[in-house]
Amino acid sequence: MKKVSIIYWSNGGNVEVLANAIAESAEKYGADVTVKHVQDATIEDVTMADAVAFGSPSMDNNKIEQHEMEPFIKEFKLLPNNNKKLVLFGSYGWDEGQFMKDWVVRMEDYKFNVIANLAVKESPSDKELEIAKKLGEELTK
Ligand SMILES: Cc1cc2nc3c(=O)[nH]c(=O)nc-3n(C[C@H](O)[C@H](O)[C@H](O)COP(=O)(O)O)c2cc1C
Repeated sequence: MKKVSIIYWSNGGNVEVLANAIAESAEKYGADVTVKHVQDATIEDVTMADAVAFGSPSMDNNKIEQHEMEPFIKEFKLLPNNNKKLVLFGSYGWDEGQFMKDWVVRMEDYKFNVIANLAVKESPSDKELEIAKKLGEELTK
């Protein structure tokens, strides 16, 4: 059984809704799923998983959330990430997804295999939730 970990930061719930859609779908496709707010997550949640998804809103001038998500992500800079499958997801208010483009480049630089990313404006539409579910399925392959 594939182990899939979904780690996110959310305050208003928009990113959390995406996290839960990805998790629900990965579970449906047979994965052993861990879904956690980053404040409860450990590095092992990522290193022990076969595939991972990270989620954040755009905050603090078009960056991933800086107080909890950023320090967690930074931990992977010096780890051997071995081309692990990664989905990035998140929500923005006005940056039109620029924070996500920057995040993808960064995680590729950290040697993750970024298979997909999804950035939505504020709360996800039904169509965007369907895309999130597709990403959950992809993580189980
Ligand atoms: C304090 C704060 C700072 C924000 N900064 C940005 C920003 O720099 N760029 C942007 O595009 N959106 C910004 N937003 C909008 C959020 O990214 C957007 O509302 C997102 O959906 C929040 O996700 P959440 O509901 O999961 O917390 C900000 C929102 C808040 C509350």
